[in-house]
Amino acid sequence: MNAEALKRQAAAKALESVRDGMKLGLGTGSTARHFVELLGERVRDGLNVVGVPTSEATRADAERCGIRLATLDDIPHLDLTVDGADEIDPDLNLIKGGGGALLREKIVAAASDRMVVIADESKWVADLGKFPLPIEVVPFGLGATRRLIERAIARAGAAGTLELRKGRDGHAFVTDGGHWIIDARLGRIPDPQALASALVAIPGVVEHGLFLGLAGTAILAGPNGIRVFERPAGRG
Ligand code: A5P
Repeated sequence: MNAEALKRQAAAKALESVRDGMKLGLGTGSTARHFVELLGERVRDGLNVVGVPTSEATRADAERCGIRLATLDDIPHLDLTVDGADEIDPDLNLIKGGGGALLREKIVAAASDRMVVIADESKWVADLGKFPLPIEVVPFGLGATRRLIERAIARAGAAGTLELRKGRDGHAFVTDGGHWIIDARLGRIPDPQALASALVAIPGVVEHGLFLGLAGTAILAGPNGIRVFERPAGRG
């Protein structure tokens, strides 16, 4: 079974948690897109939900699927967010932002009672860090911010290289919020909490892709079926 079919299976399983009248956060990426498409089918069958998209790409997908949309100004509190991830560890801590939507994704997840992460099982890892950690930064002062990020990484016991993400046009990739992204290739993040705390203390850092303690449930689809994990009590 190919990866897209597995992602769709995980998305279909997450759809079982959706109830009529729910306010939903809609994630970004190829796995979340399957969820949006399947949700659209249910909406066309009469399901009444409202969604808050985590990116302009998801907004376009959701509109195409006929899902009623709102903003966090209209509805500041959501019942459930369903989103993909780049890595998921056994405490359900995540790396997100491979698609560049980490800032809105984190705002929406934090506004939700529950976050369900959906993925094919290739995203399951023992330790976070093999996937480059996206760090969203303001363009002003990039050199200085980069130096502080290097120091923060070292203080958190990690090491690696930093790379400014480029778009298809060869210029800096620009997020929906008008920021840039530095991808930190660390290999392994020994203390995600220490790194997260150090990164948010840097003025030029807008947000980072470590989602710690946000996901309550992970749905992983693999060739041998679907596995559902709940965050261990008190962890993350
Ligand atoms: C978007 O910014 C990301 O956080 C995605 O959720 C993540 O990269 C997973 O994307 P895929 O589902 O396409 O692998």
